[in-house]
Amino acid sequence: MEKVIHVEGLYAKYDDTEILHNVSFSAFKGEITVIIGGSGSGKTTILRHLLGLIPVEKGYVSLLGKDISGLPEKEMNDMYHQMGVFYQNGALMTSLTVGENVAMPLIHQSNLPKPLIEDIVRMKLGLLNLEKAYDLYPSQLSGGMLKRVALARAIAMDPPLIFCDEPGAGLDPVSLESLDNLILNLRDQLGISVIMVTHEISSILRVADRVVFLNQGKVLFEGSRKEALVSEVQEIKDFFSVLRTDHIRQT
Ligand SMILES: Nc1ncnc2c1ncn2[C@@H]1O[C@H](COP(=O)(O)OP(=O)(O)OP(=O)(O)O)[C@@H](O)[C@H]1O
Ligand SMILES: [Mg+2]
Repeated sequence: MEKVIHVEGLYAKYDDTEILHNVSFSAFKGEITVIIGGSGSGKTTILRHLLGLIPVEKGYVSLLGKDISGLPEKEMNDMYHQMGVFYQNGALMTSLTVGENVAMPLIHQSNLPKPLIEDIVRMKLGLLNLEKAYDLYPSQLSGGMLKRVALARAIAMDPPLIFCDEPGAGLDPVSLESLDNLILNLRDQLGISVIMVTHEISSILRVADRVVFLNQGKVLFEGSRKEALVSEVQEIKDFFSVLRTDHIRQT
């Protein structure tokens, strides 16, 4: 299977504190790879390296088959234009309509004519069940809709790969489930590979093809969701232990 991400022996520190210790993992094309682990374990720090926001000082990171540490800035920019990012708080522009927000990457990063951009934006909004929100402003939307607009913007440029940091944060269980289903649709209908950081066990069970478990800056486990659920690694057992107690309560 084709790798979209390969990280090998990555170390990272902020000031003098080492945060990532010898982190290695891979993510594969057309899959949803979920990075899980406790608060402060380094999940967002990994994403920042993958996104080129923090330079790789020690270790190796390749994206879509390219070693990012050796890339000239121009090529790096071109590559990042190919990727969608979905930030925790959505980060929409409040003074712009939904349609204008989703059009932003297309206006800035493509030379497409305006009517075509509008068609593309409407199509992306349609994929995320937002066709009626085109002319609304972010302040007029629910929390779940805001997330979906941010996701529509992340896929505006048809990226082969998208990154999501806690996409479900703050959503009620029903909105979370529908967001997860939309992310599954992006994988299945558009073939997008997804790298997702999440705390939500229900999301992991619904969407993860592959799980990378991080504990205090180290990868303790990497494998399929099935393997994660039966892992003998104590920290992973603890992480999924809620499931067992739920099960006991139900029976
Ligand atoms: N800009 C920064 N400067 C200094 N330390 C930082 C910085 N960003 C993060 N850290 C520290 O790095 C460690 C890992 O942080 P990171 O944000 O990667 O964790 P996380 O796994 O994403 O946690 P959470 O689940 O709470 O989002 C934490 O101890 C944090 O305090
Ligand atoms: Mg984080």
